[in-house]
Amino acid sequence: PVSVFENPQTASINVAQRIANLIKKKQAINATAVLGLATGATPIGVYAELIRMHKEDGLSFKNVVTFNLDEYYPMQPNAVQSYVRFMNEHLFDHIDIDKNNVHVPDGTIKLEEIPAFCLAYEKKISDFGGLDIQILGIGRTGHIGFNEPGSAPNSGTRLVTLDDLTRRDAARDFGGKSFVPTKAITMGIGTIFKAREIILMAWNRKKASIIKKAVEGEISGEVPATYLQLSENVEFILDAPAASDLT
Ligand code: F6R
Repeated sequence: PVSVFENPQTASINVAQRIANLIKKKQAINATAVLGLATGATPIGVYAELIRMHKEDGLSFKNVVTFNLDEYYPMQPNAVQSYVRFMNEHLFDHIDIDKNNVHVPDGTIKLEEIPAFCLAYEKKISDFGGLDIQILGIGRTGHIGFNEPGSAPNSGTRLVTLDDLTRRDAARDFGGKSFVPTKAITMGIGTIFKAREIILMAWNRKKASIIKKAVEGEISGEVPATYLQLSENVEFILDAPAASDLT
């Protein structure tokens, strides 16, 4: 299903409320809420609303475990472009989550350690009972996480090569495309699919053509987000400009 909101603010509040409801429902039965999180510009409003709910409405994150989709490779956690740093600055430093419950793919490990790290990441997610909600943005290549064109529908967490367009889009953050890492560690399409609820968000006219492909286009590895059409548990949350090419 596709839901179109007037603007990213109202859409983000709606998504934050759904996350908060899950957290509270789990608290009522002394259980853990397992969240799959994304970085980038798109989810910032959701995180801001969750912080507001923590500060003003007393929403607690003590029972929350998180797994981020991806991280550049290589990447030091304190670097300005690091997704560890992004998550701390936009969410974790402002709420009462136990930092031991936070997981972001490790951009500092040695190349030969990556396969074992990725298997352990998958195992940790399943040991916590799987992802309750996975939040996604979408890249202009149609990537979800960093699953670029050519990704297999059953792919797991792994080291990937970033598409040239993705690196161009990241160039501003790195002060030039040549400084953008060529690789990343990302959850796979298969990892994302196992989430009980998937919410893909997109704002802005710039996302309209890729959203049209993702929602209405032929299902193909050329546009990895089209695989989401095969899931019963997906919702596309859009602002009006991002939805403007849909028929
Ligand atoms: C980020 C991620 C990416 C972004 C996508 C959109 O963790 O996995 O797929 O969601 O590149 O980025 P923004 O939101 O900056 O347009």
